[in-house]
Amino acid sequence: MPSSPSVPAFTLARPASAPLDPPPLYTELRTSAPLTRVSLREGQLSPWLVTRWEDARAVLGNPAFSSDPSLPGAPNFVEGTRQGPRGFFQSHDDPVHAIMRRTLTREFMIKRIDALRPAILRMTDELLSAMAELEGPVDFVEHFALPLPSLVICELLGVPYEDHDFFQTHSKFFVDLTATAEQRDKAREALAGYLLDLLKVKRATPGDDVVTRLAEQVDAGDITEQDAATLSAFLLFAGHETTANMIALSTITLLQHSEQIPRLMDETQVAVAVEELLRHISIVHGGLRRTATQDIQVGDVTIRAGEGVIIPLGVVNRDPDVFTGPDALDLDRANSRQHLAFGYGIHQCLGQPLARVELQIVLPEVFRRLPDLKIAVPMEQITFKEDTVVYGVHDLPVTW
Ligand code: HEM
Repeated sequence: MPSSPSVPAFTLARPASAPLDPPPLYTELRTSAPLTRVSLREGQLSPWLVTRWEDARAVLGNPAFSSDPSLPGAPNFVEGTRQGPRGFFQSHDDPVHAIMRRTLTREFMIKRIDALRPAILRMTDELLSAMAELEGPVDFVEHFALPLPSLVICELLGVPYEDHDFFQTHSKFFVDLTATAEQRDKAREALAGYLLDLLKVKRATPGDDVVTRLAEQVDAGDITEQDAATLSAFLLFAGHETTANMIALSTITLLQHSEQIPRLMDETQVAVAVEELLRHISIVHGGLRRTATQDIQVGDVTIRAGEGVIIPLGVVNRDPDVFTGPDALDLDRANSRQHLAFGYGIHQCLGQPLARVELQIVLPEVFRRLPDLKIAVPMEQITFKEDTVVYGVHDLPVTW
């Protein structure tokens, strides 16, 4: 069934002239029809699109909206999407979700993440020094934006960075909206198999890392070996694809607003500046997806049990009822931390303390070390990732 004009097809496409702004149609809908149906999979599904910040919080904060993609009516981009194993707990509801998440909460406590600051600064410094030795133009994604979070998550988990080609290749299937359920299952199995082997290694030679501590939880009978492997596989993927794209898109955004770079370099201001970049860019652009398990009133609409909901974070994070002049980047914005770029409710990003610390260290350091950094090609030649849950650029040629 093709989509009718009154039910627009869900799209991630952005205008070529404004690739860092959300699709304009959704911005219009936020005023004219803040809860409206969109057509998905050529009209097979017509989930609700939620474009207001307040409604988005109402949905994400209500446990009667399920994250299980195997429910009939779940607004999946690809048919046949199944629920992953318990270790991929983002697609489970409580209590399974809460049990699995609890095994990791200590790992992401602010104190523990703060202890990583010197290591993150050292890795940033080494990568930027190596890049600065090269003759420009060089690909900023390949030489910096991707390896940095990859090195950091490897350090945290205790995974050898030498294996990065293997896990980066498999991680891509979890963000690729065109990937089939089979491709995702295969990628998940490959990653979990790799981590099952690593759990054995950590038992023999323990380290001060997450995989070692998960092995201890297995030995204590708290979780199964399979859970430990998929939990760490999930972190390995989640720690890569998000922060890497955020570093690249923040760099582009800052170069486009270079008059605001001094704000970022001010140590007392950097945390606020990073929140504004998170809000303005909102890299998880595929939309958070939920399915109602009972009839629920949101705004003026009753969402019926079994109906799907899509929340495009880039659109809700530019709601003028919450953020004044929402389309402008304002690194001084007082309330930018109210953004929903890390989600909201029980599934709110577990890795956010790490993502924040990485961005707060990395972004000022890039501009301190390379004050003349420039994009080496016209913006039209940069290819943006349209078919992925997480927005980003495929590559970013730069000079300095
Ligand atoms: C700028 C970087 C990041 C952004 C914007 C981001 C965004 C998000 C969002 C929006 C969600 C909620 C998904 C939902 O409600 O369905 C989420 C969940 C999650 N994120 Fe992140 N993330 C980032 C970095 C990270 C990092 C570095 C890690 C781990 C090392 C991580 C681990 C997770 C996990 C485990 C969940 C699932 C939480 C749950 O279901 O309880 N994220 N993230």
